[in-house]
Amino acid sequence: MCGIVGAISSEDVIPILLEGLKRLEYRGYDSAGVATLNCDTGDIQRLRTKGKVKELESELIKHPMQGRIGIAHTRWATHGIPSEGNAHPLISGANIAVVHNGIIENHHELKTELLEKGYIFASDTDTEVVAHLVYDYHKQHDFLAAVKLAIKRLEGAFALVIINREAPDRLIAVRKGSPLVVGLGKNSHFIASDTLALLPVTDRFIFLEEGDVADVSQEKVDVYDLSSALVKRKIHTSGLDKNSVSRGNYRHFMLKEIFEQTIAAAHTLDGRIDHQHVLDNLFDGPSLHALKKIQHVQIAACGTSYHAGLVGRYWMESLAGISCQTEIASEIRYRKAVVSPNSLFIVLSQSGETADTLAALRQAKELGYAATLAICNVPESSLTREADITILTRAGAEIGVASTKAFTTQLIALLLLTMVLGAERKFMGTSVASNILYQLRALPSQIERTLTLNTAISELAARFVGKQHALFLGRGVHYPIALEGALKLKELSYIHAEAYPAGELKHGPLALVDHQMPVIAVAPSNTLLEKVKSNLQEVSARGGELIVFGDASSYFQEFADLTFIPVQANDDVISPIIYTIPLQLLAYHVAVLKGTDVDQPRNLAKSVTVE
Ligand code: M6R
Repeated sequence: MCGIVGAISSEDVIPILLEGLKRLEYRGYDSAGVATLNCDTGDIQRLRTKGKVKELESELIKHPMQGRIGIAHTRWATHGIPSEGNAHPLISGANIAVVHNGIIENHHELKTELLEKGYIFASDTDTEVVAHLVYDYHKQHDFLAAVKLAIKRLEGAFALVIINREAPDRLIAVRKGSPLVVGLGKNSHFIASDTLALLPVTDRFIFLEEGDVADVSQEKVDVYDLSSALVKRKIHTSGLDKNSVSRGNYRHFMLKEIFEQTIAAAHTLDGRIDHQHVLDNLFDGPSLHALKKIQHVQIAACGTSYHAGLVGRYWMESLAGISCQTEIASEIRYRKAVVSPNSLFIVLSQSGETADTLAALRQAKELGYAATLAICNVPESSLTREADITILTRAGAEIGVASTKAFTTQLIALLLLTMVLGAERKFMGTSVASNILYQLRALPSQIERTLTLNTAISELAARFVGKQHALFLGRGVHYPIALEGALKLKELSYIHAEAYPAGELKHGPLALVDHQMPVIAVAPSNTLLEKVKSNLQEVSARGGELIVFGDASSYFQEFADLTFIPVQANDDVISPIIYTIPLQLLAYHVAVLKGTDVDQPRNLAKSVTVE
């Protein structure tokens, strides 16, 4: 989703803005742009390009710009095609330049009003109305007042940073619905969509809150809250290493992040378990007290995080004896849900900024849930700030748009939470708990062993290159893993992939199976194995190309023509975490062979901050 960087300094800010944009590339975008106030003339200078930041960088070499104040942007198109003309910053009257993340929902109405006043629109974006509105109010008010008046007119979600030719010593930032951080430097201040963009220049940040307006000059940062009162926001020091956005020796961030799952799992467990228990420090917030009375769990999330939530449902019911539903956040937020008494509402999100998930959380808070809990990878994200209780996954920065280590650490967090609820409800006995904890302690090394499948899977990937479609099958708790495998393959390689519970095949999808259809089965040796094998016979009988991820090939000896990939999960409970890894590797290698943009697949954004 769009990325914003702004800077004011005693030195030229172009290098800071460009580096910031590069660090925001992971969010997904299709055009980029930058604007500064020229040090000599004071004029707004602007350069925009369709495509990647490196194209903007090349243009900047041909047409150099400088300035001690500037704003920059990567745009993920919503209103108006990806083009130079629709790229931000957008300008009004050569005085006001704006970058925006989010959607101005009432832009049609505002545009009509501004057209009547004689404003000319040069783009098809929803953002341009903001530039003109600020310009218009600025005719009668100072810069800050003009921005405050303009944003009162806007409906929707937005983060904005605005510069003004007539106020060359400040930039103004607004946060409503889309995240923004202010970075504090020496004789310089910065603004960005997230902290990663600014790590080379500072580790001190203010996280703007909903409705905040920040008036930022070289000397100070004044923050005004929703009621326009001047407020003091806490300064946070980031523990993130500026190299966390480096690929190291890996060809892609995604491969690095798949391999980092060993360490991410270890970090997520670190200090949170002993040999018998999950420790209270798993949680931030008033955890145990709130969780004691819980009798039902509702999980909401999007995409990969939703798949983690589906696994969570199986665990909650089988290991904690607690009823649980999992729903896609964009659906639950518009459903008239009936909330059972003593229900816990759980949101899962890597970024903590996903608009639908955040909206579902806000709705849950109105609906009378006993407590809300966020499982999230980003401390200080909107989700962690708004939920009553938080469990932080400690996956580290995830840069590849396709989620990998965030998913497996979400599963770990969900399993730990399940164990807490299971113990509270006296459903989970101590021997079961001790065994799961034993398996969890061994998990990093199990992940490491599973990663040795990398070469075998890279060879298997060649068989997918010419394919248009693929089917993934799983049963029980491994059905969500099949869903996740299919999502990974489609988002990375653009091969159409669907997942079904294996038992559902004969109710329709079997019609698709012929000798050209790869059918990938997640088939660990558990109580459902025989059922899965019967379903796979249905595929085999129709000539489908069977690829099975399972514990031992001997279990499948009755199948004449089958490709078997051995996955060794020592234990049934943690098996979904282990079986995820080869499917991630498969999607990765198919994408590499097809030459797609692995880390930034087309049309996708890392942090989906619009509806
Ligand atoms: O940041 P979140 O976990 O809330 O993001 C949810 C989805 O947008 C995300 O998982 C998406 O499906 C990824 N592209 C999956 O790889």
